[in-house]
Amino acid sequence: MHESVKLRWRQYSLDERSLLSNPDLSGFLLGVKMKPMVFVKAAMSLDGKIATKTGESQWISNVKSREYVHQLRAEYDAICVGVQTVILDNPRLTIRQNGNESSHYRMVLDTRGRIPLECNLLNDAFKHLTIVFTTELIPKEIEENIKSKGVKLIKLKLNNNRIDLNDWLIESEKCGITSIFVEGGGEVIASMLKAEVVDKIAVAIAPIIIGGKDAKGFVAGDGIEHLKDAIQLENPTIKWFDEDCVLEYNIKKRERI
Ligand SMILES: NC(=O)c1ccc[n+]([C@@H]2O[C@H](COP(=O)([O-])OP(=O)(O)OC[C@H]3O[C@@H](n4cnc5c(N)ncnc54)[C@H](OP(=O)(O)O)[C@@H]3O)[C@@H](O)[C@H]2O)c1
Repeated sequence: MHESVKLRWRQYSLDERSLLSNPDLSGFLLGVKMKPMVFVKAAMSLDGKIATKTGESQWISNVKSREYVHQLRAEYDAICVGVQTVILDNPRLTIRQNGNESSHYRMVLDTRGRIPLECNLLNDAFKHLTIVFTTELIPKEIEENIKSKGVKLIKLKLNNNRIDLNDWLIESEKCGITSIFVEGGGEVIASMLKAEVVDKIAVAIAPIIIGGKDAKGFVAGDGIEHLKDAIQLENPTIKWFDEDCVLEYNIKKRERI
C-alpha cells in the first residue's frame, strides 16, 4: 500500500475500517470517500492568535515543534496555504530535515491571481511541484506568467467568489494526491472547516500571548452564531515540545438524517 494511502487508512475509525474491509461494501464506500484526506495545522499563541496585528507570525512555535511540522509535512502528498500567507510570509513549504531540503507538492489557493510572481513557490528549485489553484477570475497575463515559469496552474469552480473547496479536492485527487497538509492561514482554515473538508486538526500552542482584536485568529471567517453549531472534535492526542504543546484532534463528522 502507498504510504499516503496507509496514512489515510489510519484516519478512518475502526468501524469505518471494518466496513471498508467488507468486500460487499468497500467499492461503494471507497467511491464515496476517495477525496484526499485533509489535515489542518497552525501554530498559535495561548490566546489563539496565529499572527500579530501586523501579520508577523515567524516564529510563534519553538524549534522542536517546527521540526515536528517538517516530520508531518513529509507524511503528506501536498502542503497547502492561502494566497495571503504567500503574500505576507513568502514560505517555502519544503521538508527540511537533518540538513536536507526536499519537497512534496505545494499548493496555493489564489482565486484571482494575487500570488507575487517573485515568491519562493514560483521560483525555487522545487517550483515544478507547485500548484496554483485559481479560477476564471485570474487575469490572462498573470496566468501566462505563472505557467511560463513551469508551474502547474489549475482553474477551479467559484463558490461565493472564492475557490470551491470540493472542486479543489476533486482536482487534487486527479493529480494523484491522496493527502493534504494545510498550514493556514485563518481564512483558508475557516472556509475548509465550513465546507466540511477537514479530517484532522492540530494546533501548536506556544507559551506567549499576542492579543489584539485585529490579530488573526486560528479560525477566521464569520464564525457561528450558536454553540449547537460548533464543530465537534474527538480523539485528542497531546505532545509536548519543551514548553510548546501540540494538540491533535479528529473532526467529528456531522450526523446527517
Ligand atoms: N501561525 C501559523 O501557523 C500561520 C500559518 C500560516 C499563516 N499564518 C499567518 O496568517 C496570516 C494570513 O492568514 P489569512 O487568514 O489572512 O490568509 P490565508 O488564509 O493565508 O489566505 C486567505 C486568502 O486565500 C484566498 N482563498 C482562495 N480560496 C479561498 C477559500 N475557499 N476560502 C478562503 N480563502 C480563499 C483568498 O484570497 P483571494 O480571494 O484573493 O483568492 C483569501 O483572502 C499571515 O499573517 C500569516 O503570517 C500563520
